[in-house]
Amino acid sequence: MNKIVIAIDGFSSTGKSTIAKQLAKQLNYIYVDTGAMYRAVTYFALENNLIGEDFFHSETLIKKLDDIHITFKFNEALGFAEVYLNGEHIEKEIRTLRVSQYVSPVATISEVRQKLVEQQQLMGKDKGIVMDGRDIGTVVFPDAELKIFMTASAKTRAQRRYKELLERGHNLSYEDVLENVTTRDRIDSTRKDSPLVKAEGAIEIDNSDLTIEEQLDSIIKLVNAIT
Ligand code: DC
Repeated sequence: MNKIVIAIDGFSSTGKSTIAKQLAKQLNYIYVDTGAMYRAVTYFALENNLIGEDFFHSETLIKKLDDIHITFKFNEALGFAEVYLNGEHIEKEIRTLRVSQYVSPVATISEVRQKLVEQQQLMGKDKGIVMDGRDIGTVVFPDAELKIFMTASAKTRAQRRYKELLERGHNLSYEDVLENVTTRDRIDSTRKDSPLVKAEGAIEIDNSDLTIEEQLDSIIKLVNAIT
């Protein structure tokens, strides 16, 4: 079977990573969560006081980009690769609402995007990869053999993210999560550099009323038709 590149894009909390992880497992492909990379840069910016409630020292962040080394290491127990920033395991730290609140402005910076896109393209050069994000089918792998665009209503997505964060022990309100989801949708889809749009040739899946199995089933069928 030919190995292909599978690009999965969509708004925040559409369940892209859940599907992408399982798909990679079934196909024995590498899974890359590109959102985790933007989150890692944001975590670095927060830790170094480069971004906060009323400031963003984006020029300093750009100058410090060479100090940011993002790596992934496969976790056998979890069955997917986790993200590290300069050797530090930061999976838990990057999933907080605090990081979610600052990640979209950080992701508007072209220099940040350029650095991460280059790394993503290298990771996918041998194919056999499932990558999820916002610009995978449009910018990172415009020639991907399979492009998926996932959607779901903002309410459905906020409910999912709220449940996930509560389960992880975070203390927050549903309203805050909904506000974060809709604000990120707006910034991600209106930014100048690589805005979130459905890529040419992408297949749209609205998963508001679909189970994970149903989504996986239909994507596997699409993969089988290509490979
Ligand atoms: O997928 P996520 O919610 O973890 O992504 C976090 C943010 O990172 C998202 O709001 C926008 C940005 N992002 C991006 O601009 N491009 C990507 N390929 C992935 C994420």
